[in-house]
Amino acid sequence: PPWDDPSLGELIVPADELQARIADLGAAIARHYADRPPLLVGVLKGACIFLSDLARAIGLPVEMDFMAISSYGSATRTSGVVRIVKDLDIDLTGRHVLIVEDIVDSGLTLSFLTRNLLARNPASLEVCALLVKEGLQATSLDLAYEGFRIPPEFVVGYGLDVAERFRNLPFICEYRGGDPAGLS
Ligand code: PRP
Ligand code: MN
Ligand code: MG
Repeated sequence: PPWDDPSLGELIVPADELQARIADLGAAIARHYADRPPLLVGVLKGACIFLSDLARAIGLPVEMDFMAISSYGSATRTSGVVRIVKDLDIDLTGRHVLIVEDIVDSGLTLSFLTRNLLARNPASLEVCALLVKEGLQATSLDLAYEGFRIPPEFVVGYGLDVAERFRNLPFICEYRGGDPAGLS
């Protein structure tokens, strides 16, 4: 299996803890948006797995759209340049928008995205991030929903990749570096 890889390090969040936390997040989101079902905006590609589980944990008729944003490329450090690779299909005007992100690392992607989406005049805009790295964000970000705070190590799994690998691990673990097995 893909998790038998020497470049993978310590387990950071096991699969059952991810699922338990996502159930809680879904319930909290359902309470908050009970009278105004949200439009979930998933940030591809990293958030695809989280959004799939989260959407099913929200007992409301949500809508979904996706935006593809990239700043890491195949590297383990942000390039500092955030790029829209695919834009949304749905008009955000008057909508209650909930951004769904897998991880807030430097915070660059999210600050770019909130500025960009606010300019489209949504009725409200909030963020749900599964993971937040501690002590790395230059500016403070206002996260309405947050899954786990994790130490500032490069992590993979549950949507998070290095050079497109490891997104399908059902847990979050440390990436130790080196070449992922099979990559040349
Ligand atoms: C990763 C991750 C977040 C972002 C967080 O995306 O999925 O979107 O970086 O980093 P930041 O807070 O430093 O901006 P990436 O650019 O690797 O694209 P991907 O989601 O397609 O893997
Ligand atoms: Mn991403
Ligand atoms: Mg990535």
